[in-house]
Parts: sequence; C-alpha cells; structure tokens
Amino acid sequence: MNILLIGSGGREHALAWAISASLLCDRLFIAPGNPGTAQCGENAVIDIADHGAVIAFCRLQKINLVVVGPEGPLVAGIADNLTAAGIKTFGPSKAAAQLEGSKAFTKELCAEFSIPTAGFGRFTDAASAKAYVAAQGAPIVIKADGLAAGKGVVMAETLDEANEAIEMMFGGGLGSAGAEVVIEEWMIGEEASFFALCDGTHALPLASAQDHKRVGDGDTGPNTGGMGAYSPAPVMTLAMEARVMKEIIAPTLAGMAQRGAPFQGVLFAGLMITAQGPKLIEYNVRLGDPECEVLMPRLKSDIVPALLAACDGVLDQITLRWSEEAALTVVLAARGYPGKPETGSVIKDIDKAAALENVLVFHAGTKQDGAGALLAAGGRVLNVVGMGKTVGEAQARAYRGVDAIDWPEGFCRRDIGWQAVKREREG
Ligand code: AMP
Ligand code: GLY
Repeated sequence: MNILLIGSGGREHALAWAISASLLCDRLFIAPGNPGTAQCGENAVIDIADHGAVIAFCRLQKINLVVVGPEGPLVAGIADNLTAAGIKTFGPSKAAAQLEGSKAFTKELCAEFSIPTAGFGRFTDAASAKAYVAAQGAPIVIKADGLAAGKGVVMAETLDEANEAIEMMFGGGLGSAGAEVVIEEWMIGEEASFFALCDGTHALPLASAQDHKRVGDGDTGPNTGGMGAYSPAPVMTLAMEARVMKEIIAPTLAGMAQRGAPFQGVLFAGLMITAQGPKLIEYNVRLGDPECEVLMPRLKSDIVPALLAACDGVLDQITLRWSEEAALTVVLAARGYPGKPETGSVIKDIDKAAALENVLVFHAGTKQDGAGALLAAGGRVLNVVGMGKTVGEAQARAYRGVDAIDWPEGFCRRDIGWQAVKREREG
C-alpha cells in the first residue's frame, strides 16, 4: 500500500523510519518532510494547509493511508476532510482534536466524567480571574485556553506573578489563544507522558516516556518543545499503567463517544503521578516530539497494521511487542532556541554518529543546500537516540553520538535522563 505521512519534525522522521520498515508499505511519501525523512521515502512538496491539494495528491499517488503527525493540521480538520473524500486517515477529527486545541474543553470533560485532574476555574475577563486567584492563593497555574506553542502556561509562585500572567493573556499577549483563561491548582508529583492508540472505542497502550521541557541543564531556563526524552518512564509501572488506562484513558474515550466526537488516533496524556495517584495535566492528540523518537525504536511490531486497525475500529485485535531496552534521545538545537534560533550553519558527520552501535539520528529542522551540505533550518535540529539495557547505557550511547557530530553552532542539554539514571544508581 501507499502511505502519506504529514509533517516535517523529528517525530515524523521517527515515524517514517518505522512505517518504511513495514511489510505492508510499498511507497511512503512525506509532506513536506525533511532531509531525514527523504532517506525513508519520498518527500512531497504539498501545502499541507491546503486540504484540497492534499486530497488531489492522494488521488494522484493512489494513497491508501494518511498518517497525520502534528496537531496543527488535525485542529484545522484535515482528518475530517480526507475522510469525507474517502481517504483512510490516522488521526482525530477536528471535534476530537479539541482535547488538545482547548484546555477548557478537556477540563469540562474531566469534570463530567470524573477523570482525575487539577481543580480549576474558567474565565473570560481579568477581574473575575484575579478574584479567583485571590481566593485560591499562590502557587497557582495560569493557562491560555487555546494553542500557544508551549508558551501558554505560567506557573505562578506568587499572587503578583499570577495577576501579571492574567493581564498578559487578556491583554492579547498570546493572541486569540488567551481570550479564555483556565486557572488550575498546582499539582505536586513526578511527570510522565503516556501514549495510547485509540480507534474511537478501544484503546491500546503504547508506552511511556519522560520529556525534558526546560532548555537548560538541571531543568532551568525557559520551556521548549522538549530537549530530550527517554522511554520507558520508571514511574509508569504496569500497575500505574493499568490505573491510567482505567481511570483516565477509558473514561475519556467513553466521554468523547458520548459527545459525538469519538477519538481515533494517538491520545497523549501528560500526567502528574501524585500521592493520590495519576492525574491528567493535559491531553495532546498526537505523538509527542521528542517522545516519538524514543517510542519508535522500542516498538518491535509492525506499526502499520496497528494504524490501520485504529482507522477501522478493530484495535482490540492488535497486540504490540516492545523492546525491554531503554531508549534515550538528546535534542541538538540551534543557538538562540527557544527564542530566535540562528539558522544556516553547516552540520557535519551525522553519518559518523549513526554508524555507532545502538545509535540512531533523526532529523528535525534541517535542510540540504544546493551543494548537498546539511544546514540548520529550525530551532530543534537533530535527535540523537541511544538504546541500552538501562537508561544509563542508552544515555552514554546517545551522548557518544552527539559528540561524533560536528556542529559548533548547535547545543544540547548534557543531563537528559538524569532522574532515571540517579534512580538506577541508587537501585
Ligand atoms: P501544559 O502545556 O499544560 O502541559 O503545561 C506545561 C507544563 O507545566 C507541564 O508539563 C507541567 O510541568 C506544568 N504544569 C501544567 N499544569 C500544571 C498543574 N496544574 N500543576 C503542576 N504543574 C503543571
Ligand atoms: N514533547 C512534548 C510535546 O510533544 O508536546
């Protein structure tokens, strides 16, 4: 069969790598893709915001399955439009993508279906938001309702910080994303990302991972899309996974079906493992980036039958095998990220890293110039993944890969996996 993958990040290179290994895959196209995905299939120059153009491409290339990587096209309704055109599409409808597109939607769903999450209030004006904050006290969490590219969450340690964030959001500091504000209880615990494949009715657990959102070593500096990750997350024991499936994922699927927006695709639960058990921080409606880069190398089964089963509503017939090994990815970013990254510098010796044992390199913001040199073309540029029996071993391999790459204008965190490695040392 012919498959079209939408997206161009490290997540999509990892997905393209997994999909291209499938016995079912004849031709794989990636739109728009990056120089890494071009090694797994054929990059296609299509404007993915133009759903008519995507449909026309699918007809021309006889595409049997479209897999949507990022949330933007999903929130814009690409799955609805492709499905209406008779093209099988992996990824949620626009209505179901509200789980990521609107924090208020998700919080109301949690309230209605008793899904454990932080206590909250919703506001459309600054005065009532400030009154709520004054009544609740600090620390407290202030969130813009809409998609704000990871910048819509302010962890306010004091009332002043909380009021400042409220004024910034209602003052238009985040555009229309801040027209509504959600204010939440600050939960204490260890964070983990958990992924489940869903077909509208059934959910199949994928695996867990731990992300590193802050730009600097020791979890310092501003938030980013993610500077590294490892899988599995040690806090997600089998017993915890069973609780998450029962207390969070299952009622979410039931609630979405009851609301007439059954969820098909990857449900990505950002969790806080608190003293009272797992609580939902937020949902995303797609694989995480860089979490996908550590999940795909651990997946031993063919991914394509599972994606098809999710589209066809028969996920209960699928089981997936996972490697017992740990995977860890380090993100190499261009200097300036997460502010304004310096692009255009030359990257060399990726092949030296990729040739190391148990090391993989996935591209994100790279591009090839006319002479064939590889250039930095974005904030997060490369993912170097190591596999090993322990997170410590995977970490050592990943950094060996990082050190083999010649890119003086890039930087990375040197402590990805520190929590798990510390845990392993302390036994
Ligand atoms: P979000 O964009 O909602 O995932 O929030 C970004 C980060 O802020 C999360 O990964 C958490 O570290 C933190 N966070 C968000 N909401 C809460 C909360 N209610 N309590 C504690 N930490 C939170
Ligand atoms: N790494 C977090 C995300 O993909 O949203």
